[in-house]
Amino acid sequence: MRLKKHRLLLILASSISIFLFFISYQYYFYDSSVILIDEKWRRIIEKRQAEVNESIGCVDFLKKLEEKIKVPVLLIDMNVLENIGKHKCDQLKVYDTLIQVATDSRKDLNFIDRHIFEPLFFENNELRDYLEFATHPKRIIPKNFDTVKYGNLAVPRKPFRFRKFWENSRLIECANRTMNRKETGEKKRLDPILAAFELSRLRDLLIRYDMFPVISEGTLLGWYRECTIIPHTQDLDIHVIVEEFNPRFVDDMREGRSIFKLNRRLGKLDAMELTVSPRNGYRVYTDIFMMYQEKQKNGEDINWISGMCGDGERIRYRFPLFYPFCSADLLGHLVWTTCDPERIIKEEYGEKWFEDVPTNNYSWFESDKNVERNMEWFSSWEMRKITFQDDYGYH
Ligand SMILES: *[C@@H]1O[C@H](CO)[C@@H](O)[C@H](O)[C@H]1NC(C)=O
Ligand SMILES: *[C@@H]1O[C@H](CO)[C@@H](O)[C@H](O)[C@H]1NC(C)=O
Ligand SMILES: *[C@@H]1O[C@H](CO)[C@@H](O)[C@H](O)[C@H]1NC(C)=O
Repeated sequence: MRLKKHRLLLILASSISIFLFFISYQYYFYDSSVILIDEKWRRIIEKRQAEVNESIGCVDFLKKLEEKIKVPVLLIDMNVLENIGKHKCDQLKVYDTLIQVATDSRKDLNFIDRHIFEPLFFENNELRDYLEFATHPKRIIPKNFDTVKYGNLAVPRKPFRFRKFWENSRLIECANRTMNRKETGEKKRLDPILAAFELSRLRDLLIRYDMFPVISEGTLLGWYRECTIIPHTQDLDIHVIVEEFNPRFVDDMREGRSIFKLNRRLGKLDAMELTVSPRNGYRVYTDIFMMYQEKQKNGEDINWISGMCGDGERIRYRFPLFYPFCSADLLGHLVWTTCDPERIIKEEYGEKWFEDVPTNNYSWFESDKNVERNMEWFSSWEMRKITFQDDYGYH
């Protein structure tokens, strides 16, 4: 009898310790860099990945078109690119409607058959990372994309991506206000030239995952107000529409296959913010906010992004709709932005947005006009699961 009791206790004790070990293992070895995506969002992402996965079809049509063009051109016709990308070839006819093509040689414009084509001119300036189209309004698109050549006809290899470039391409100008900033005032934290370069590398990287970032927060304010990056801000801010989120972007960073590194992640995909920095090069953090859309009770659509305070409070910032998107020049680099920057900036920084607020006097969860507090509270165990930090912190 005695022996049996003893054995029972032993079994009980060992199962308790195994249980405790398991719990603490989960607690201490939990890989919180893995993005938590629930079923609803997984389906949205899968649908989108199928949608962006276009390739060049309708080669017979392109071969026919190639015979009609005597000088090198880029195919930019949105309608044709959509049919090619979706392999809807029976809708494509050579003489149906004029097909838009573009060239960077003014002379060549005279050698394009205007019964078939509508030629546009673009400038390819070596000092800029975009092509500038002489349309009304002016349009710019990133330079960095692949084409497939059919004779003289260059066709964007990723038709979906190229259509997105074009959709966002209307060029808008910054306000270029003069800032009477005291030179001796605040510590300079960012080099605008180097930071803008790293931002362009991140833009190109995100494009490879079919994510199309728009500038936001301090980066939007700096571009619009001063046509540069505010030197006393400490990081860059961009938004990506959450439906565009591609989990491979994070997986490749986690597995060291990316030129950027994941420094921080806050929240699950249903309210998420990431922070990344270049693996090599100028060290600058960029906050990538997922941008969500929601219909208000009054029927108005708004955008919101998520923030997380250290004590487990989830907050959010609401904005008027960022969409539609336009393009802008930031120190020679293309950035995408809302087409109505002043509206968004006033909502966040108030009517006196054109006055400089030193970063030291700025609180990201108290100064902004558009913060909503107490969205959700997380316990410390939950926080551990939905937050991740690696090599993150300001010096
Ligand atoms: C993309 O399309 C190709 C064939 O067109 C297919 O083999 C591939 O699995 C697709 N990828 C995704 C992510 O849907
Ligand atoms: C902003 O204005 C300054 C001074 O008037 C000018 O030198 C500069 O080129 C302008 N910047 C942009 C991007 O327009
Ligand atoms: C910044 O904060 C300091 C101390 O709180 C205050 O004395 C100063 O007036 C503030 N400056 C501005 C521009 O708000």
